[in-house]
Amino acid sequence: MLDYDDEATHYDRTRGGVPRAVAAAAALSSMLPPRSLVLDLAIGTGIVATELAAFGHRVVGIDLSDRMLRLAAHRLPGRVAPSNG
Ligand SMILES: C[S@@+](CC[C@H](N)C(=O)[O-])C[C@H]1O[C@@H](n2cnc3c(N)ncnc32)[C@H](O)[C@@H]1O
Repeated sequence: MLDYDDEATHYDRTRGGVPRAVAAAAALSSMLPPRSLVLDLAIGTGIVATELAAFGHRVVGIDLSDRMLRLAAHRLPGRVAPSNG
């Protein structure tokens, strides 16, 4: 199984970066009422959640990986928490 603590530093770059995140966020946003409160259950580095927030949604997230979560916390301060603590 993939260790996302090891993946964290190169996750965004190797998974399509911002263009992938914008496309995912646009698809999700099209299915949500405006200004939804969204819980991202595996927020990762927060790259998709950040783009979803840019569509006007309030996004909070949890993740198992401390290193992924640390990157998400930079993008969404005060809006992420560990799912195991
Ligand atoms: C493929 S990444 C996706 C991250 C993000 N949703 C994105 O699209 O960029 C999968 C994430 O799920 C997290 N994860 C896996 N199992 C989990 C669980 N049981 N609870 C919380 N997070 C989990 C991993 O740590 C990793 O950050």
